[in-house]
Amino acid sequence: MPDKIRIEGLSIEDLNKEINNIIEVYRGAYIEIPIYAYQKRHDIKGYLKWLYRADPDGFFVATLDRKIVGFIAACQDWWDYGLNKYLGEIHELAVERDYQGCGIGSLLFEKATTFLRKKHDTIGLWVGEKNERAITFYKKKGFKVFGKMGRWLRMRKTF
Ligand SMILES: CC(C)(COP(=O)(O)OP(=O)(O)OC[C@H]1O[C@@H](n2cnc3c(N)ncnc32)[C@H](O)[C@@H]1OP(=O)(O)O)[C@@H](O)C(=O)NCCC(=O)NCCS
Repeated sequence: MPDKIRIEGLSIEDLNKEINNIIEVYRGAYIEIPIYAYQKRHDIKGYLKWLYRADPDGFFVATLDRKIVGFIAACQDWWDYGLNKYLGEIHELAVERDYQGCGIGSLLFEKATTFLRKKHDTIGLWVGEKNERAITFYKKKGFKVFGKMGRWLRMRKTF
């Protein structure tokens, strides 16, 4: 399946056109781990728009036959309070449940990290402490845990 997947950026017009589909992708992705996700449609929509505004160039979607099946939101300049410097941040990564485990998350991640590395050597992200699938995913990509705040783990990688 990965050879049929396209990873592409989104214009604001396309975001507005696709927002309901992206909300469904987000909901589907988090269906088994709702404690780490917004639940109300209004909140998800606001969150997606916030992600896009944070860095429109860092928002990528994965499509299969033009249907959006996953997305990633990356931000080129994010202040890391632990390191006291700006780095590249992955704010969100979600693959619709039926499409997980096929390599789509890895394709999105590769696209976002290549984008972020144009500006920074270090990339950070927060992940739910019990979100084993995502933690395993990030560890396989070379990320390590550097701290914890509430129920969130701070992970980073310096390339
Ligand atoms: C985390 C997530 C984005 C991974 O996307 P994906 O498309 O399933 O990932 P890939 O198919 O590229 O898999 C890469 C690795 O992820 C892990 N993984 C994927 N599916 C898995 C599954 N069903 N069970 C356990 N680990 C799994 C494995 O470590 C896998 O490595 P492998 O290919 O060597 O086995 C996806 O599971 C998801 O959307 N989860 C819900 C939302 C979420 O937790 N986002 C992270 C926010 S910080």
